[in-house]
Amino acid sequence: MKRKIGILTSGGDCPGLNAAIRGVARAAYEMFDAEIIGIQNGYAGLIDGEYKEMKKSDFSGILTLGGTILGTSRRPFRNMRVVEDDGVDKVAAMKKTYKDLKLDCLVTLGGNGTHKTANLLSEEGLNVIGLPKTIDNDIYGTDFTFGFHTAVDIATDVIDRIHTTATSHGRCMVIEIMGNKAGWLTLYSGVAGGADVILLPEIPYDIKEVAKTVEARAKSKKAFSILAVAEGALSKEEAKMKKKERAAYRASLPYDCISKRIAAELQEMVGVEARHVVPGHIQRGGSPSAYDRVLSTQFGVHAAELIRDEIYGVTVALDGNEIIHNKLSDIAGVPKPVPMDDHVLVTARNMGINLGD
Ligand code: F6P
Repeated sequence: MKRKIGILTSGGDCPGLNAAIRGVARAAYEMFDAEIIGIQNGYAGLIDGEYKEMKKSDFSGILTLGGTILGTSRRPFRNMRVVEDDGVDKVAAMKKTYKDLKLDCLVTLGGNGTHKTANLLSEEGLNVIGLPKTIDNDIYGTDFTFGFHTAVDIATDVIDRIHTTATSHGRCMVIEIMGNKAGWLTLYSGVAGGADVILLPEIPYDIKEVAKTVEARAKSKKAFSILAVAEGALSKEEAKMKKKERAAYRASLPYDCISKRIAAELQEMVGVEARHVVPGHIQRGGSPSAYDRVLSTQFGVHAAELIRDEIYGVTVALDGNEIIHNKLSDIAGVPKPVPMDDHVLVTARNMGINLGD
Protein backbone atom coordinates (compact mmCIF):
# COMPACT_ATOMS: atom_id res chain seq x y z
CA MET A 1 0.00 0.00 0.00
CA LYS A 2 1.37 3.42 -0.98
CA ARG A 3 0.26 6.70 0.59
CA LYS A 4 1.37 10.21 -0.28
CA ILE A 5 0.96 12.39 2.80
CA GLY A 6 1.06 16.18 3.00
CA ILE A 7 1.82 17.56 6.44
CA LEU A 8 1.67 21.12 7.75
CA THR A 9 1.85 23.05 11.01
CA SER A 10 -0.34 26.12 11.34
CA GLY A 11 -1.06 28.88 13.87
CA GLY A 12 1.06 29.69 16.92
CA ASP A 13 3.83 27.17 17.45
CA CYS A 14 4.35 25.13 20.61
CA PRO A 15 6.75 22.51 21.96
CA GLY A 16 5.94 19.03 20.66
CA LEU A 17 5.18 19.89 17.02
CA ASN A 18 8.34 18.20 15.78
CA ALA A 19 7.79 15.21 18.07
CA ALA A 20 4.31 14.80 16.56
CA ILE A 21 5.60 15.21 12.98
CA ARG A 22 8.24 12.57 13.74
CA GLY A 23 5.55 10.28 15.19
CA VAL A 24 3.48 10.49 12.00
CA ALA A 25 6.52 9.90 9.78
CA ARG A 26 8.12 7.09 11.78
CA ALA A 27 4.85 5.13 12.02
CA ALA A 28 3.95 5.79 8.38
CA TYR A 29 7.35 4.57 7.13
CA GLU A 30 7.03 1.58 9.46
CA MET A 31 3.49 0.56 8.52
CA PHE A 32 3.24 1.29 4.80
CA ASP A 33 5.01 2.69 1.76
CA ALA A 34 4.90 6.40 2.65
CA GLU A 35 5.92 9.46 0.71
CA ILE A 36 5.82 12.63 2.76
CA ILE A 37 5.53 16.22 1.54
CA GLY A 38 6.29 18.96 4.05
CA ILE A 39 4.06 21.94 3.32
CA GLN A 40 5.90 25.11 4.36
CA ASN A 41 4.54 27.72 6.80
CA GLY A 42 1.09 26.29 7.36
CA TYR A 43 -1.86 26.96 5.07
CA ALA A 44 0.18 29.76 3.46
CA GLY A 45 2.37 27.06 1.88
CA LEU A 46 -0.66 25.10 0.74
CA ILE A 47 -2.10 28.23 -0.87
CA ASP A 48 1.17 29.31 -2.50
CA GLY A 49 2.36 25.80 -3.41
CA GLU A 50 5.45 25.95 -1.21
CA TYR A 51 6.50 22.51 -0.09
CA LYS A 52 9.43 20.17 0.29
CA GLU A 53 9.73 16.47 -0.50
CA MET A 54 10.86 15.00 2.78
CA LYS A 55 13.33 12.20 3.32
CA LYS A 56 13.42 9.76 6.22
CA SER A 57 16.48 11.55 7.57
CA ASP A 58 14.50 14.82 7.84
CA PHE A 59 12.59 13.29 10.72
CA SER A 60 15.66 12.22 12.64
CA GLY A 61 16.95 14.19 15.65
CA ILE A 62 13.81 16.30 16.02
CA LEU A 63 12.06 14.67 18.98
CA THR A 64 13.39 17.18 21.48
CA LEU A 65 13.51 20.17 19.16
CA GLY A 66 11.19 23.12 19.91
CA GLY A 67 9.27 25.04 17.21
CA THR A 68 8.44 23.34 13.92
CA ILE A 69 10.76 22.18 11.15
CA LEU A 70 8.00 23.02 8.65
CA GLY A 71 7.53 26.64 9.72
CA THR A 72 4.14 28.08 10.59
CA SER A 73 1.95 31.12 10.05
CA ARG A 74 -1.41 32.46 11.07
CA ARG A 75 -3.95 32.42 8.23
CA PRO A 76 -7.27 33.40 9.90
CA PHE A 77 -10.13 31.06 9.10
CA ARG A 78 -12.56 33.98 8.73
CA ASN A 79 -10.62 35.12 5.64
CA MET A 80 -10.24 31.73 4.01
CA ARG A 81 -13.24 32.17 1.73
CA VAL A 82 -12.59 35.88 1.23
CA VAL A 83 -10.74 36.92 -1.92
CA GLU A 84 -8.40 39.69 -0.75
CA ASP A 85 -6.38 42.31 -2.66
CA ASP A 86 -4.03 39.67 -4.15
CA GLY A 87 -7.06 38.17 -5.96
CA VAL A 88 -6.24 34.65 -4.78
CA ASP A 89 -9.08 32.21 -4.20
CA LYS A 90 -7.42 30.52 -1.21
CA VAL A 91 -9.69 27.50 -1.00
CA ALA A 92 -9.30 26.77 -4.71
CA ALA A 93 -5.53 27.26 -4.42
CA MET A 94 -5.26 24.81 -1.51
CA LYS A 95 -7.30 22.22 -3.36
CA LYS A 96 -5.12 22.70 -6.44
CA THR A 97 -1.87 22.15 -4.52
CA TYR A 98 -3.35 19.02 -2.93
CA LYS A 99 -4.46 17.74 -6.34
CA ASP A 100 -1.26 18.70 -8.18
CA LEU A 101 0.80 16.87 -5.57
CA LYS A 102 -1.54 13.86 -5.89
CA LEU A 103 -1.82 13.66 -2.12
CA ASP A 104 -3.78 10.85 -0.50
CA CYS A 105 -4.24 12.93 2.61
CA LEU A 106 -3.27 16.06 4.48
CA VAL A 107 -2.24 16.07 8.15
CA THR A 108 -2.75 19.46 9.84
CA LEU A 109 -1.16 20.19 13.19
CA GLY A 110 -2.73 23.19 14.86
CA GLY A 111 -5.16 24.87 17.19
CA ASN A 112 -8.70 26.13 16.83
CA GLY A 113 -8.30 28.15 13.64
CA THR A 114 -6.32 25.33 12.03
CA HIS A 115 -9.08 22.87 12.84
CA LYS A 116 -11.76 25.13 11.36
CA THR A 117 -9.83 25.33 8.08
CA ALA A 118 -9.12 21.57 8.25
CA ASN A 119 -12.86 21.00 8.52
CA LEU A 120 -13.50 23.35 5.59
CA LEU A 121 -11.02 21.40 3.44
CA SER A 122 -12.59 18.13 4.55
CA GLU A 123 -16.01 19.45 3.52
CA GLU A 124 -14.43 20.39 0.18
CA GLY A 125 -13.58 16.72 -0.32
CA LEU A 126 -9.94 16.53 0.81
CA ASN A 127 -8.80 13.70 3.09
CA VAL A 128 -7.77 15.55 6.24
CA ILE A 129 -6.55 14.45 9.66
CA GLY A 130 -5.99 16.98 12.46
CA LEU A 131 -3.61 16.89 15.40
CA PRO A 132 -4.49 19.17 18.34
CA LYS A 133 -1.65 21.41 19.48
CA THR A 134 -1.75 24.56 21.57
CA ILE A 135 -0.40 25.79 24.87
CA ASP A 136 -3.94 27.09 25.54
CA ASN A 137 -5.46 23.56 25.78
CA ASP A 138 -8.69 24.92 24.33
CA ILE A 139 -9.54 22.39 21.63
CA TYR A 140 -12.88 20.74 22.18
CA GLY A 141 -13.01 16.94 22.45
CA THR A 142 -9.53 16.29 23.83
CA ASP A 143 -8.57 16.26 27.51
CA PHE A 144 -5.22 17.79 26.62
CA THR A 145 -3.53 19.25 23.59
CA PHE A 146 0.20 18.73 23.13
CA GLY A 147 2.33 21.74 24.10
CA PHE A 148 0.09 22.52 27.06
CA HIS A 149 1.99 20.61 29.73
CA THR A 150 5.35 22.02 28.63
CA ALA A 151 3.91 25.52 28.88
CA VAL A 152 2.54 24.67 32.34
CA ASP A 153 6.06 23.62 33.36
CA ILE A 154 7.56 26.84 31.98
CA ALA A 155 4.93 29.12 33.54
CA THR A 156 5.29 27.28 36.85
CA ASP A 157 9.04 27.82 36.73
CA VAL A 158 8.42 31.53 36.15
CA ILE A 159 6.08 31.65 39.16
CA ASP A 160 8.63 29.75 41.29
CA ARG A 161 11.35 32.23 40.40
CA ILE A 162 9.07 35.18 41.08
CA HIS A 163 8.14 33.60 44.41
CA THR A 164 11.66 33.94 45.80
CA THR A 165 12.10 37.57 44.82
CA ALA A 166 8.54 38.36 45.98
CA THR A 167 9.39 36.87 49.38
CA SER A 168 12.63 38.83 49.72
CA HIS A 169 10.93 42.16 49.05
CA GLY A 170 7.50 41.46 50.51
CA ARG A 171 6.03 42.53 47.19
CA CYS A 172 2.85 41.82 45.30
CA MET A 173 3.84 40.18 42.03
CA VAL A 174 1.38 39.89 39.14
CA ILE A 175 2.39 37.31 36.54
CA GLU A 176 0.61 37.38 33.19
CA ILE A 177 0.14 33.92 31.71
CA MET A 178 -0.78 33.32 28.04
CA GLY A 179 -4.37 32.44 27.20
CA ASN A 180 -6.76 34.99 25.78
CA LYS A 181 -10.03 33.11 25.81
CA ALA A 182 -9.25 30.08 27.98
CA GLY A 183 -7.55 30.05 31.37
CA TRP A 184 -6.26 26.45 31.45
CA LEU A 185 -2.59 27.45 31.46
CA THR A 186 -3.08 30.05 34.19
CA LEU A 187 -5.15 27.66 36.30
CA TYR A 188 -2.68 24.76 36.13
CA SER A 189 0.49 26.83 36.54
CA GLY A 190 -1.18 28.95 39.23
CA VAL A 191 -2.03 25.88 41.28
CA ALA A 192 1.37 24.30 40.59
CA GLY A 193 3.17 27.52 41.54
CA GLY A 194 1.14 28.11 44.71
CA ALA A 195 -0.43 31.38 43.56
CA ASP A 196 -2.55 33.26 46.10
CA VAL A 197 -4.84 34.68 43.41
CA ILE A 198 -5.73 33.14 40.04
CA LEU A 199 -7.66 35.21 37.52
CA LEU A 200 -9.12 33.55 34.43
CA PRO A 201 -11.05 34.89 31.42
CA GLU A 202 -13.87 32.53 32.45
CA ILE A 203 -14.37 34.24 35.84
CA PRO A 204 -14.59 38.04 35.61
CA TYR A 205 -12.88 39.54 38.66
CA ASP A 206 -13.72 42.26 41.14
CA ILE A 207 -10.51 44.10 42.01
CA LYS A 208 -11.88 44.79 45.51
CA GLU A 209 -12.11 41.02 46.11
CA VAL A 210 -8.54 40.55 44.85
CA ALA A 211 -7.35 43.40 47.09
CA LYS A 212 -8.75 41.64 50.18
CA THR A 213 -6.29 38.75 49.81
CA VAL A 214 -3.35 41.02 49.00
CA GLU A 215 -4.16 43.27 51.98
CA ALA A 216 -4.58 40.36 54.41
CA ARG A 217 -1.25 38.92 53.32
CA ALA A 218 0.47 42.32 53.48
CA LYS A 219 -0.56 42.55 57.14
CA SER A 220 0.54 38.98 57.91
CA LYS A 221 3.97 37.45 58.37
CA LYS A 222 3.97 36.40 54.71
CA ALA A 223 3.66 39.89 53.31
CA PHE A 224 4.14 38.98 49.65
CA SER A 225 1.41 37.93 47.22
CA ILE A 226 1.59 35.97 43.99
CA LEU A 227 -1.09 36.57 41.37
CA ALA A 228 -1.37 34.34 38.28
CA VAL A 229 -3.40 36.33 35.78
CA ALA A 230 -4.47 35.13 32.34
CA GLU A 231 -3.75 37.60 29.54
CA GLY A 232 -7.47 37.46 28.74
CA ALA A 233 -8.64 38.15 32.32
CA LEU A 234 -11.30 40.84 32.56
CA SER A 235 -13.08 42.73 35.30
CA LYS A 236 -16.78 42.29 36.08
CA GLU A 237 -17.50 45.71 34.58
CA GLU A 238 -15.66 44.83 31.37
CA ALA A 239 -17.49 41.52 31.12
CA LYS A 240 -20.75 43.47 30.77
CA MET A 241 -19.38 45.51 27.84
CA LYS A 242 -19.60 44.62 24.16
CA LYS A 243 -16.28 43.68 22.53
CA LYS A 244 -15.80 47.06 20.78
CA GLU A 245 -16.78 49.04 23.87
CA ARG A 246 -14.30 47.03 25.95
CA ALA A 247 -11.52 47.61 23.43
CA ALA A 248 -12.20 51.36 23.48
CA TYR A 249 -12.28 51.40 27.28
CA ARG A 250 -8.96 49.57 27.47
CA ALA A 251 -7.38 51.88 24.92
CA SER A 252 -8.33 54.81 27.18
CA LEU A 253 -6.33 53.35 30.10
CA PRO A 254 -2.58 53.94 30.53
CA TYR A 255 -1.75 50.20 30.56
CA ASP A 256 -0.66 48.00 27.67
CA CYS A 257 -1.46 44.74 29.45
CA ILE A 258 -3.75 43.41 32.14
CA SER A 259 -1.00 42.49 34.61
CA LYS A 260 0.39 46.04 34.58
CA ARG A 261 -3.06 47.43 35.25
CA ILE A 262 -3.82 45.04 38.11
CA ALA A 263 -0.42 45.70 39.73
CA ALA A 264 -1.00 49.48 39.52
CA GLU A 265 -4.53 49.19 40.90
CA LEU A 266 -3.43 47.04 43.85
CA GLN A 267 -0.50 49.32 44.62
CA GLU A 268 -2.94 52.24 44.75
CA MET A 269 -5.69 50.45 46.68
CA VAL A 270 -3.65 48.47 49.21
CA GLY A 271 -0.47 50.50 49.39
CA VAL A 272 1.74 47.48 48.68
CA GLU A 273 4.73 47.58 46.37
CA ALA A 274 3.59 45.75 43.22
CA ARG A 275 5.31 44.62 40.03
CA HIS A 276 4.09 42.85 36.93
CA VAL A 277 5.86 40.19 34.83
CA VAL A 278 4.98 39.06 31.31
CA PRO A 279 6.86 35.89 30.29
CA GLY A 280 5.08 35.97 26.92
CA HIS A 281 6.39 33.72 24.16
CA ILE A 282 8.94 32.09 26.47
CA GLN A 283 5.93 29.92 27.37
CA ARG A 284 5.90 28.55 23.80
CA GLY A 285 9.63 28.08 23.37
CA GLY A 286 12.18 25.33 23.79
CA SER A 287 12.12 21.59 24.13
CA PRO A 288 8.90 19.69 24.90
CA SER A 289 8.53 18.09 28.35
CA ALA A 290 8.65 14.30 28.68
CA TYR A 291 4.84 14.27 28.98
CA ASP A 292 4.44 16.22 25.73
CA ARG A 293 7.02 14.08 23.91
CA VAL A 294 4.96 11.00 24.75
CA LEU A 295 1.59 12.62 23.94
CA SER A 296 2.84 14.15 20.66
CA THR A 297 4.32 10.80 19.64
CA GLN A 298 1.10 8.97 20.49
CA PHE A 299 -0.96 11.53 18.54
CA GLY A 300 1.40 11.35 15.54
CA VAL A 301 1.41 7.57 15.47
CA HIS A 302 -2.38 7.46 15.73
CA ALA A 303 -2.62 9.81 12.74
CA ALA A 304 -0.51 7.33 10.73
CA GLU A 305 -2.79 4.49 11.88
CA LEU A 306 -5.78 6.48 10.63
CA ILE A 307 -4.06 6.97 7.26
CA ARG A 308 -3.37 3.24 7.10
CA ASP A 309 -7.06 2.57 7.81
CA GLU A 310 -8.21 5.35 5.45
CA ILE A 311 -10.14 7.18 8.18
CA TYR A 312 -10.32 10.86 7.31
CA GLY A 313 -12.23 13.98 8.34
CA VAL A 314 -11.15 13.47 11.94
CA THR A 315 -8.79 14.87 14.55
CA VAL A 316 -6.80 12.89 17.10
CA ALA A 317 -7.65 13.38 20.78
CA LEU A 318 -6.92 12.20 24.32
CA ASP A 319 -9.79 10.75 26.31
CA GLY A 320 -8.55 9.68 29.74
CA ASN A 321 -5.70 7.34 28.86
CA GLU A 322 -7.06 6.50 25.42
CA ILE A 323 -5.98 8.03 22.14
CA ILE A 324 -9.16 8.48 20.11
CA HIS A 325 -10.33 10.55 17.14
CA ASN A 326 -13.26 12.92 16.78
CA LYS A 327 -15.00 14.08 13.63
CA LEU A 328 -13.63 17.46 12.54
CA SER A 329 -17.20 18.62 11.96
CA ASP A 330 -18.05 17.87 15.61
CA ILE A 331 -15.20 19.83 17.16
CA ALA A 332 -14.27 22.63 14.74
CA GLY A 333 -15.21 26.02 16.15
CA VAL A 334 -16.48 24.62 19.45
CA PRO A 335 -14.92 26.54 22.35
CA LYS A 336 -13.41 24.78 25.39
CA PRO A 337 -13.28 27.24 28.27
CA VAL A 338 -12.50 26.04 31.81
CA PRO A 339 -15.87 24.80 33.11
CA MET A 340 -16.93 25.91 36.59
CA ASP A 341 -16.94 22.29 37.79
CA ASP A 342 -13.43 21.52 36.48
CA HIS A 343 -11.67 19.50 39.15
CA VAL A 344 -8.55 21.67 39.23
CA LEU A 345 -10.68 24.81 39.47
CA VAL A 346 -12.74 23.31 42.30
CA THR A 347 -9.49 22.28 43.99
CA ALA A 348 -8.23 25.85 43.78
CA ARG A 349 -11.47 27.29 45.15
CA ASN A 350 -11.79 24.78 47.97
CA MET A 351 -8.28 25.45 49.22
CA GLY A 352 -8.95 29.15 49.47
CA ILE A 353 -7.18 30.47 46.36
CA ASN A 354 -8.79 33.80 45.49
CA LEU A 355 -10.42 33.50 42.04
CA GLY A 356 -11.41 37.16 41.98
CA ASP A 357 -15.19 36.66 42.17
O1 F6P B 1 -2.64 30.29 20.95
C1 F6P B 1 -1.40 30.32 21.55
C2 F6P B 1 -1.04 31.71 22.01
O2 F6P B 1 0.25 31.67 22.57
C3 F6P B 1 -2.02 32.37 22.97
O3 F6P B 1 -1.88 31.93 24.31
C4 F6P B 1 -1.69 33.81 22.79
O4 F6P B 1 -2.80 34.61 23.14
C5 F6P B 1 -1.38 33.90 21.32
O5 F6P B 1 -1.01 32.59 20.91
C6 F6P B 1 -0.28 34.84 20.95
O6 F6P B 1 -0.23 34.90 19.57
P1 F6P B 1 1.01 35.42 18.72
O7 F6P B 1 2.11 34.40 18.83
O8 F6P B 1 0.49 35.51 17.35
O9 F6P B 1 1.43 36.71 19.34
